[in-house]
Amino acid sequence: MNITVTKTQTPKEKPVDESKLGFGSIFTDHMFIVEYEEGRGWYDPRIIPYQSLSIDPASPVLHYGQEVFEGAKAYSLDNGEVGLFRIRDNARRMNQSAVRTCMPELDVEAQYEAICRLVDLDRSWVPASEGTSLYLRPTMIADGACLGAHSASSFIYFVICSPSGSYYPEGIKPIRILIETRYARAVKGGMGRAKTGGNYAASFKAAKEALDRGYHQVLWLDGREQKYVEEVGAMNMMFVIDDKLVTAELGDTILPGITRDSILQLARDKGLPVEERKIPVTELFEANAQGRLQEAFGTGTAAVISPVGELTWLDKTIIINNNEIGPVAQMFYDTLTGIQKQRVEDAHEWVSTVPRFN
Ligand code: PLP
Ligand code: COI
Repeated sequence: MNITVTKTQTPKEKPVDESKLGFGSIFTDHMFIVEYEEGRGWYDPRIIPYQSLSIDPASPVLHYGQEVFEGAKAYSLDNGEVGLFRIRDNARRMNQSAVRTCMPELDVEAQYEAICRLVDLDRSWVPASEGTSLYLRPTMIADGACLGAHSASSFIYFVICSPSGSYYPEGIKPIRILIETRYARAVKGGMGRAKTGGNYAASFKAAKEALDRGYHQVLWLDGREQKYVEEVGAMNMMFVIDDKLVTAELGDTILPGITRDSILQLARDKGLPVEERKIPVTELFEANAQGRLQEAFGTGTAAVISPVGELTWLDKTIIINNNEIGPVAQMFYDTLTGIQKQRVEDAHEWVSTVPRFN
């Protein structure tokens, strides 16, 4: 891609106290943007100062939610370089989500180049303290001006970056999860597998009601029978039962998490038995009653590894591992973050170093 670069004339103040970054509310000086027109393809790739988008009020993204996005992270490495974790996998999943929502794919290497160029330019924004990173949000929206309920013919792909700390204010302390029994997030044949805005909008009411009751998130069950465990709003779920790592099998209702895949690969590397299968919610409560449910934790780019200390389903609540992070979750947290920071051997070559273009 021939990316033009316009640097900001008014650089923003960078956050001084990295312990107060929070998640996704501070943005760097620049953004990447490229546009698409049917018959013309992708055109005018550019890095520009971070700014508002101007779109027509009749843009399909505003009316029909034709939108997909990704979440990835850049890390400050001890050798002064910046590392990207499995970024091409994010680009591939972006394209899978785009296909499901009738949007154009953008070549994986083009996405990779765009992200590298942007992160290189804003590399001084990558925070260095433990537990911080530069969160990257590639996004594609349908623009144009047509209220007809069909796919658009013009699109915008952009990437913004946000220096961030932990997603949950508690950091790695166990969170409380409510198992949702009234609403559904995704159904067979729907869009649960795609990372599209509507899936998140569909989950907000349940999440807000759970928050009002003191829970951090809801755990979704399958939308048809509300019997099997699927995933949490922003992370996949894993359980340790009888010394085995158990997680829901993928299908068209669950986001195929890149962290999920990484943890399963690390588990296999370490010889920990892994089961990807349907998990009846009743099994969790029975295993807990029999002392066989050892740990529960979520996996996600933003959430990293988030231990779950409490699970409520209907009128039953269970406390897992005394509401403390367990040894398996801790081991995966240490290994994963160690690889991301290149302090632990990266046997799968998941981290790529951002080249210096300038
Ligand atoms: N499930 C949902 C619904 C998510 O939003 C996320 C976050 O991206 C995940 C799972 C975890 O996916 P990943 O590990 O690729 O970040
Ligand atoms: C991520 O982990 O990158 C996500 O996209 C979660 C997000 C919805 C906060």
